[in-house]
Amino acid sequence: MLFDKVTEKFGHPTLSLTGWLVKKILENVHKAQEINTAKLAQIQSNSTVLEVGFGPGLGLQEAVRYLTDSKGKLYGIDYSEYMHKVASKRLQEQITSGKAQLFLGSVEKIPLPDSIVDRVFHCNCFHYWPDLKKGSAELHRVMKPEGLMVTTLRVNAIKKAVSIGLLRGKIWQPEIYMDALQATGFKDLHMKEMEDRGLKFNAIFATASK
Ligand SMILES: C[S@@+](CC[C@H](N)C(=O)[O-])C[C@H]1O[C@@H](n2cnc3c(N)ncnc32)[C@H](O)[C@@H]1O
Repeated sequence: MLFDKVTEKFGHPTLSLTGWLVKKILENVHKAQEINTAKLAQIQSNSTVLEVGFGPGLGLQEAVRYLTDSKGKLYGIDYSEYMHKVASKRLQEQITSGKAQLFLGSVEKIPLPDSIVDRVFHCNCFHYWPDLKKGSAELHRVMKPEGLMVTTLRVNAIKKAVSIGLLRGKIWQPEIYMDALQATGFKDLHMKEMEDRGLKFNAIFATASK
């Protein structure tokens, strides 16, 4: 029961004491992973980039650093009102200038036209999606052909969390997400073990094909 509540809070942080604690954990524990994920997305100065499930916005903050060309554009989508508010504050300058736009909504319905995004990334996120195939089909829809999608997760940490009762009923297995990606039009799927200054994590790469 308690672990189900914790899972729910991480999957959808709300404005509350526990939501605030989750935000603090995300900001401190996931910071390096978010930075690495944005880096792995190989963002070019003029790329159009989308982060799904941006949480407090540290990955967005990193991604926007690469977008030095006036054509470079950053989008984000997260269905938590609280996280949307926190990240909007963090990216206030870029939002005001029109460089970044953050949507409050779900990966299953991204308010963007077809085939405009060069890079998609997300971090510690797909486990909470209600339908992996719908989510990955929607990512594919908004991506340009040959666009790159990267997601990272810490498989060993997740396995430990699952063993104590967290993430009950969630689909956290990378293979299942990779199957969904393949079934919805992604190619060149592969997962790599990565390490950065002692942080071990797994990265899934996929290319949009059309
Ligand atoms: C565990 S947090 C991870 C946040 C951040 N990426 C990090 O690693 O610190 C999961 C985030 O994904 C968001 N999220 C979960 N399911 C989502 C969905 N279907 N569509 C959009 N955002 C979603 C949650 O609101 C939350 O901010």
